[in-house]
Amino acid sequence: MKTKTIKSLKGTHDILPNEVGIWQEAEAIFHEVCTQFAYKEIRIPAIEYTELFQRGVGDTTDVVNKEMYSFEDRGGRNISLRPEGTAGVVRSFIEHGLSSEPFPVKLFYLITAYRAENVQAGRYREFRQFGVEAFGSDDPSIDIEIISLLDIYFKRLSIKNASIRINSIGDKESRETYKERLLSYYKPLEDKLCPTCKERLYKNPMRLLDCKENSCKLLAQEAPKILDSLNAESKEHFETVLHGLDNLGIKYVVDPMIVRGLDYYTKTVFEFVLDDSTAAQAGTICGGGRYDSLVASLGGQDCSGIGFSIGGERLVRALMDCGAEISKDNRVDLFIATQSKECKTYVDKLAYDLRKLGLRVEIDLCDRSFKAQMKYANKSDAKYLLVIGDNEVESLKGSIRDLRNRDVQDVETSLNAKEIFELFSGLINNN
Ligand code: HAM
Repeated sequence: MKTKTIKSLKGTHDILPNEVGIWQEAEAIFHEVCTQFAYKEIRIPAIEYTELFQRGVGDTTDVVNKEMYSFEDRGGRNISLRPEGTAGVVRSFIEHGLSSEPFPVKLFYLITAYRAENVQAGRYREFRQFGVEAFGSDDPSIDIEIISLLDIYFKRLSIKNASIRINSIGDKESRETYKERLLSYYKPLEDKLCPTCKERLYKNPMRLLDCKENSCKLLAQEAPKILDSLNAESKEHFETVLHGLDNLGIKYVVDPMIVRGLDYYTKTVFEFVLDDSTAAQAGTICGGGRYDSLVASLGGQDCSGIGFSIGGERLVRALMDCGAEISKDNRVDLFIATQSKECKTYVDKLAYDLRKLGLRVEIDLCDRSFKAQMKYANKSDAKYLLVIGDNEVESLKGSIRDLRNRDVQDVETSLNAKEIFELFSGLINNN
């Protein structure tokens, strides 16, 4: 009887070799753009104490309350898989005294994150985030810079039909005023709210603006707007950010309905949304904003912060949908076919020498006949072919064939590894 196979968990997915090129390129460009803006990479653990997310992300949020993968480890510690990257980066920033470095401290990361969500289009249980976090500047210029980083990244990827939506949820004082106004608006409507919103009304009324129930959405549209409750300082901050974006020619839409689903935000919040997205929320490729009290609330010094995270799966989907031709070229440069068994040791050594020099080389590893090797080479994505038989070994000469363009004449070469390598540098640079 055949042994039963094991399938991947619901909400997780493999990125197979034929899909990985687009990921590698999106990641490499993210790396490059972050470096252009002087961000440095940080790598953080996938597991942390549950308390970090309860205190950091907030225990009234869905992410922490309903979606965290939490467990007790063998030592009885309460541990969770990270549902996002910000809390872990802040923990690391505090733990390693990174605040002693000149401000702003600018960090970026590429991580997997875990949320026990209802799986649907663009919503996974394990997904990838590309994010940045910057610490130590209250100045609106950092909000502008971070949004411009995002804008340049999406431009480099040629993502069209998407817009930056921006809002301010003000500082603590502004939000207290706003929450009072929201409560006065919603209290007489309490009966019309969905059960979740009824529960949230007194705990965190701003969450009501984010509800996906149609009846609640209608009420949210008529609700007071946060921008009318901003105090002078928050208002000035927001206006300076908008002027800064205007100055750079970055287009945005002010959207007072953006409140974000995590508790740590203050002042500027933003999302990058696909214009024509149908699936609820799956069109939000990126979310971010300021979190000026998070570092202090996790035991660090009083130090402001701002950042964003891009959802990798949603980004790659958008790239594929708009036919963007970005994909890392992982093709092999040269397939060396062996015409006779006697030549095999020669081919093994030549392939080894060429790989040492940096060429991508493939040879037969399945004891195929010459005919089968040629078939394999033609099917493979190797760019060039070199056939080695007794004549070639004796004369130390061979010819290189372009497998992608049969009209191009074969190029004669000596079989010296360095010469072949130099020949390839020319061939590859010309293509
Ligand atoms: P978030 O809005 O929860 O913010 O997630 C950021 C992005 O991650 C979303 O816009 C979406 O593209 C993607 N995402 C979230 N959940 C899923 C899921 N279940 N499946 C697939 N993609 C998903 C944060 O995580 C904040 N830490 C962002 C931030 C950084 N704010 C300041 N700094």
